[in-house]
Amino acid sequence: MRKPIIAGNWKMNKTVAEAIDFIREIRYDLNQLTNEVDSVVCPPFVALQAVSEALQATRIGVGAQNMYFQEKGAYTGEVAPNMITPFCQYVILGHSERRGYFGETDEGVNKKVKAALTHDLIPIICVGESLEQNEAGETHSFVTSQVIAAFAGLPAELAVKAIIAYEPIWAIGTGKSASAADAGRIIGVTVRGAIANLYGEETAQQIRIQYGGSANPSNIADYMSHPDIDGALVGGASLKVDFVEMIRKTAEL
Ligand code: PGA
Repeated sequence: MRKPIIAGNWKMNKTVAEAIDFIREIRYDLNQLTNEVDSVVCPPFVALQAVSEALQATRIGVGAQNMYFQEKGAYTGEVAPNMITPFCQYVILGHSERRGYFGETDEGVNKKVKAALTHDLIPIICVGESLEQNEAGETHSFVTSQVIAAFAGLPAELAVKAIIAYEPIWAIGTGKSASAADAGRIIGVTVRGAIANLYGEETAQQIRIQYGGSANPSNIADYMSHPDIDGALVGGASLKVDFVEMIRKTAEL
């Protein structure tokens, strides 16, 4: 059985002080639910240390929103894997905002996935199609190609530790979420199918795959009721106590 995992991607929101205030507000309730649901918060880099300290006595996970694949060196503005491992267990990689605004490529995402796994960080690998691709009927082929590229050269024993987030770009931050049936079909057939082709059915059944894109307290139960959807990557709704509500609803299922 795959344990549900709900991660909050704070994006470029909250100062360190705001992050700590918010963590103090939600940590008790979230921690009560960790038997049923893995919960993770992903603050900006500068708040990782403070947030991980504020969560020390809990089982709530911490994730970074990105990292570079090199160990160290002349890479101005970048952050290396071993700089985040003291504070994080997870790292979001290949988010569509990074691909779209910051020029991240499939090849770069693949290097980061390998670097994360060799540093014992669990990558949350984001894939998903644009509106144009969706309307042109290219979702299956495009998302399949993203999954294949992200896992290139990774052995099954490392691949199985990864988490994948299927996030249709047109659903992110728009309030226009994918239906649970559509999201579940793409996750089950396309994403899990690609993993099964690469590593076999047993590995595919173990990997956790989230939905992301305007997930909120009103639609989370629909997603989590679908057998192929193992959790959510949450943006906007993770900045408020709504996040606790989403995890409570998931735990109740
Ligand atoms: P959203 O963002 O929940 O605000 O749509 C999701 C994401 O980008 O991970």
